[in-house]
Amino acid sequence: MTVKISGTGSALPEKTVTNFDMAKLVDTSDEWIRERTGIAERRISTKDTVSTLAAKACQAALENAGASAEEVELIIVATCSPELLLPCCACQVQSIIDAPHAAAFDINAACSGFLFALNTAYAYMNTGLYKNALIVGSEVLSKLVDWSDRSTCVLFGDGAGAAYIQMVDDKDAQCENGRRSGIESIVQGSDGARGAALSCGERGVSNPFAVDSEQPSKYIHMDGQEVYKFATRQVPACISEALDKAGIGASDVDKFVLHQANVRIIESVAKRLKADISKFPMNLDRVGNMSSATIPVLLDELNRSGQLKRGDRLVLSGFGAGLTYGASVIVW
Ligand code: UT7
Repeated sequence: MTVKISGTGSALPEKTVTNFDMAKLVDTSDEWIRERTGIAERRISTKDTVSTLAAKACQAALENAGASAEEVELIIVATCSPELLLPCCACQVQSIIDAPHAAAFDINAACSGFLFALNTAYAYMNTGLYKNALIVGSEVLSKLVDWSDRSTCVLFGDGAGAAYIQMVDDKDAQCENGRRSGIESIVQGSDGARGAALSCGERGVSNPFAVDSEQPSKYIHMDGQEVYKFATRQVPACISEALDKAGIGASDVDKFVLHQANVRIIESVAKRLKADISKFPMNLDRVGNMSSATIPVLLDELNRSGQLKRGDRLVLSGFGAGLTYGASVIVW
């Protein structure tokens, strides 16, 4: 038995905000944003929420897999920007798509969230608890950024991506090139001591007995250079570890589907792994950094444009607030 991705889906808000639009809001320029990040435009929600985007992505993933919501056993939504604290987004999605038999819960590992959700579902499925799962990354980061802070507001976008994964027999996972679809290795980790490098507050202690009523900032605060250094060192290290665990080298990988935060980070990872940059598909120029949604949205774009063939070997890797990081080697 093996766990294979049977379908993908994504949903983006309609409104496109270009770098030129951003330059009307803060002291920035198309040139600065493109050169420092690779981003040209992003999608910003005018009414979509984390749950409505997630539900649309899930419906598309189920359709792509030829599966029905009725048969879904587990829904895990990775998000750091839910519209509600209670109930969780996964339960809202369950209600919208009408998946009455699923257990549903959220996880928050920021930009590594989709990977952590995938790994969590994989671990559950390997115990025999569930035979399938909808794994989602969904974010409306536009409500968490300070739109007067040029160092962060130009970076992020809104969107959602989903994958439907299923436990299948080895013969159903057999690919024409001799490989078997499934997850070959997983590496994930966290460095909570460096959490202040990328943070966003919620409510502080607040009750009639509280002695310190200081409330944390409700906007994203980031030490960009600190996160940059972390990413360029930790991402190649964890990818190398995942490759070692799978018993393969970087040259055995067909595509590296990385968290889309900055084109310079992706180029640096490619260089450190001595892998050709053409193996690193990117869409951040069009959608920006959508945190947990970047990997599944890119995966869906590749899938739907016919750029993934069964038997292709992929590395998925993300990093973000926490600080968290992870990499998985999978055969499509
Ligand atoms: O999902 C994970 C989340 N985050 C990341 O992956 C972020 C990782 N970090 C980065 O991608 C980069 O550090 C940034 C793109 C955020 C920033 O690039 P940088 O090359 O590290 O720039 P910097 O922070 O060192 O700033 C350089 C200059 C500063 O001006 P001074 O002090 O040199 O005069 C900033 O004030 O650029 C200025 N600056 C801007 N200028 C125009 C900062 N943001 C902007 C802006 N437009 N939007």
